[in-house]
Amino acid sequence: MKVTVVGAGNVGATCANVLATREVCNEVVLLDIKEGFAEGKALDIWETSPINLYDTRTVGSTNDYEKTAGSDVVVITSGLPRKPGMSRDDLIATNAGIVKSVTEQIMVHSPEAILVIVSNPLDVMTYCAYLTAGVDSKKVIGMAGILDTARYRSFLAEELNVSPKDIQAVLMGGHGDTMVPLPRYTTVGGIPVTEMISEEKLEAIVNRTKKGGGEIVNLLGTSAWYAPGAAAAQMVEAIVKDQRRVFPACVWMQGEYGISDMYLGVPVILGKNGIEKVIELDLNEEEREMLSNSEKAVREVKAILDGMN
Ligand code: NAI
Ligand code: 2OP
Repeated sequence: MKVTVVGAGNVGATCANVLATREVCNEVVLLDIKEGFAEGKALDIWETSPINLYDTRTVGSTNDYEKTAGSDVVVITSGLPRKPGMSRDDLIATNAGIVKSVTEQIMVHSPEAILVIVSNPLDVMTYCAYLTAGVDSKKVIGMAGILDTARYRSFLAEELNVSPKDIQAVLMGGHGDTMVPLPRYTTVGGIPVTEMISEEKLEAIVNRTKKGGGEIVNLLGTSAWYAPGAAAAQMVEAIVKDQRRVFPACVWMQGEYGISDMYLGVPVILGKNGIEKVIELDLNEEEREMLSNSEKAVREVKAILDGMN
């Protein structure tokens, strides 16, 4: 199995490192436009192999797509990250150009690949890659839900003083402040979270989750990478190993939840074909309304991309 990660920056290099150390595939190609950058990162990662005891090869490439040929999965992280004061949506024009040109070149060399998009604004960049790739929508998937639920789960674990391993959660909607964490579908070792925490504390955690990306941007001056890189690698692993994991992911909506013709975050089963199934939850009125607000926010950004095209 061969995986390419485009963009050898913070998220891309972290993702490649996780893929290699977990031996998710035989070869990871890291590609970037900055001369020597991907080669340097790939070499540094490879030099950890005798320490971390893995044999996945990591190969760097400065914009040479020949090296990516025949990839089974391609993760696209190329693009500008957020800076303080910027929303994810501020990145649209620059990142759409980058995602489009990268996707075109990837498809020439790996026409069968499943694409996992990370670049922001996530829902609309995934749509951009889908329009460009011209393949079945099941094969073009955005990464956000695993990251956003991981934030939510880690905050809950801290508050409840329990292992994050025991917290399961679902979150829907766009990758932005309108995302919809779902306490009704959150459990702690199988126990509904609402039986373990007060309403006020849960609400504070939900609100912190929605602004989780911005919290890191304000602390670091750029956006997060450890959790995003690990989240993208977890999606790749589910696909490459046909694990049929149940995750929230950003997918092309075709009438599910009454939503069509846009990319949005929903729970799915992820396996060797990409999206194996979209899971439709029986949302209550309040949850449906929150999802509808998130849909509206993503549609506004999508309209900007549609206008540019
Ligand atoms: P970064 O600046 O560290 O890395 C981006 C890399 O992309 C740079 O090395 C740059 O040279 C490269 N690049 C730019 N144009 C390229 C092209 N045409 N071809 C190949 N490489 C190119 O940024 P970072 O922190 O890795 O973030 C990457 C993207 O991921 C950003 O858009 C960021 O907003 C997004 N992001 C999305 C998350 C999500 O949950 N979906 C979470 C975190 C970041
Ligand atoms: C994040 O959520 C900015 O999308 C990036 O960390």
